[in-house]
Amino acid sequence: LHTLPPLQLAHKYFQLFPEQRNPLWQNPCDDKRHKDIWSKEKTCDRLPKFMVVGPQKTGTTALYLFLLMHPSISSNFPSPKTYEEVQFFNTNNYQKGIDWYMDFFPVPSNMTMDFLFEKSANYFPSEEAPQRAAALLPKAKIITLLINPSDRAYSWYQHQRAHEDHAALQFTFFDVISAKPGAPGSLRSLQSRCLIPGLYSTHLERWLTYYHVLIIDGHQLRTDPATVMDEVQKFLGVTPHLNYSQALTFDPQKGFWCQLLEGGRTKCLGKSKGRKYPPMEPQAHAYLSKYYREHNVELSKLLHRLGLPLPSWLREELQKVS
Ligand code: A3P
Repeated sequence: LHTLPPLQLAHKYFQLFPEQRNPLWQNPCDDKRHKDIWSKEKTCDRLPKFMVVGPQKTGTTALYLFLLMHPSISSNFPSPKTYEEVQFFNTNNYQKGIDWYMDFFPVPSNMTMDFLFEKSANYFPSEEAPQRAAALLPKAKIITLLINPSDRAYSWYQHQRAHEDHAALQFTFFDVISAKPGAPGSLRSLQSRCLIPGLYSTHLERWLTYYHVLIIDGHQLRTDPATVMDEVQKFLGVTPHLNYSQALTFDPQKGFWCQLLEGGRTKCLGKSKGRKYPPMEPQAHAYLSKYYREHNVELSKLLHRLGLPLPSWLREELQKVS
């Protein structure tokens, strides 16, 4: 029997078990051996009960703010780098460990009544996030929002133009989505961020391996948020029931639903949400309808399997003839 000094032993261990190089954090309180050595000053309650996983540009910020209007729902403290989003499960932040993650959350005053959550819109298309989330938060509820992936792609392009991304300013939307493999790296990278999150069925299947997921129609959140918020409250089992048809009002100037404040004033999302830009060109529309055709068919099968109705944008896409 041989042994080695600690550092060499660790090297040897990971040589033998390379798959264990990447940690997979679990809740320390779910295992007695872990709980016994978990510091007395710490709690396992500073973890979200549910997560809004995205994808980006589907209305995640509107949903986030509407959720925060509920008296029993609160979210994480802001991050200096990524603002309201923690972005733990999808980035290198994961290597910082669960203490780092838990520090973003307040200690709930009442574990059964308080609903902590986080919204990180990049979790949705992440390869690792579902497995990592399920290891730490096996009982969490997951919410995703879907809009027509073509509109999502265009909204992301406009978002990048507003942020003065060089490729987005230099190239038209059609150039971006139709760029070929030999195109400049910055163009290809923008193309991926426009197109990949919209491969909904692929990403959803990963989440469905671990979770029962609430799939919201983002177009409905935009036009009829009160009905969506009723559905969300039911899914979460949160009390008291908040009547969003009284708490929200349509602001004609903003062109979106906003929080109704005392005295009839409104609190809307900032300028970067609900931007004004020209409609998508027909050529790009046609290209994207074709690009997403197969994936939309897969999505319709997936929704059918789950016994869910097809959103109207998906029915329209499926009716288009190539
Ligand atoms: P656009 O700015 O392209 O119109 P996210 O918060 O996930 O980045 O999504 C942004 C999108 O949310 C906006 O995209 C807008 O269409 C949509 N949205 C839905 N409801 C909204 C609301 N009440 N206020 C502002 N934007 C809303």
